[in-house]
Amino acid sequence: MSPLLDPAVVAEPATAPLSRAMREGSQAAHTEAENSSFMAELTAARVNALGVRDYLLRYREVYRTMEMLGTELGAEPAVAAVVDPALDRLPAIEEDLAYWAEASGVPAPDVFHSPATDAYVAQLLEARTWAPLFVAHHYTRYLGDLSGGQVIGRVLDRELGLAGRGTAFYAFPGIPKPKPYKDGYRARLDALELTPGQQARVVEEVSTAFELNQAVFTELGRDLAGYLR
Ligand code: HEM
Repeated sequence: MSPLLDPAVVAEPATAPLSRAMREGSQAAHTEAENSSFMAELTAARVNALGVRDYLLRYREVYRTMEMLGTELGAEPAVAAVVDPALDRLPAIEEDLAYWAEASGVPAPDVFHSPATDAYVAQLLEARTWAPLFVAHHYTRYLGDLSGGQVIGRVLDRELGLAGRGTAFYAFPGIPKPKPYKDGYRARLDALELTPGQQARVVEEVSTAFELNQAVFTELGRDLAGYLR
C-alpha cells in the first residue's frame, strides 16, 4: 500500500518542527496580548511613568527568575540551547526602573502586591521538575522582546523623545541583527531531542506562558486610568 494511503501513516502525520508548533500554537494568544488594553496603550506611548514603572516592577521578577533558572539549569541540554548572556534583561530592567521611578516621583518598592507576578514566578519554578518547560517561557519572552519589543522600544523612544533613556529593556547591544538571531534560535529549538509527546508538552507550556503574561496585562489594565498620560 502506498504510504499515503496507509491509515497508520495518515493517523500520525509528521510532527511539525517545534519552533513552528510553538508559534502556531500561540498565534491567537499573541493577538490577544497585543490587544490587551495595557499593551495597546503602551505600544501607542500613552502609558505614563507610573505605568511603565509598575510594568517593569512585575517583569523584573519574571526575568530575575528566568535568568536565575537559566544559570541553575544551565547544564540541561534544552536550557543550554537557548540561554545566552546577550539576551539577559535584568540589568536593563533595573536601569529602566530607576529612570521611570524617578520620572514618576514614586520610588520603586522591593516588595509589592501582584498576584499575577506571583503566579508567573511560581509557574516558572516548575521548570525545576522538567527543564524543557523553561524553553517555553524563554521563547515566549525573549523571542517576543526581539520581535514586537523592538517596535515598542522604537515607538516609546520616538513619541516620548527619550533619546535612548528608559528603554534599555528593548535594546540588545549584543544582538545587532535580531532576524538571523531568531532564525538560529528556532533552529536550536528544532534540534532539541524531544519525543512528540514532550514537544506537545512544551507547546502547551507556551500557551500557559502567554496566559501568565495576559494576566499581568489584565492586572495592570485594572489601574489603567491612573496609568495614562
Ligand atoms: C503590543 C505588543 C506586541 C506587538 C506589537 C508584537 C509584535 C510582534 C511581531 C511583529 C512579531 C513577528 C516578528 C517576526 O516575524 O520576527 C512578534 C513575534 C513574537 N511575539 Fe510579539 N508582539 C507584541 C506582544 C507580545 C507579547 C506580550 C508576547 C509574549 C507574551 C509576544 C511574544 C512574541 C513571540 C514569542 C514572537 C515570536 C513568534 C515566532 O516567530 O515564533 N509578543 N510579535
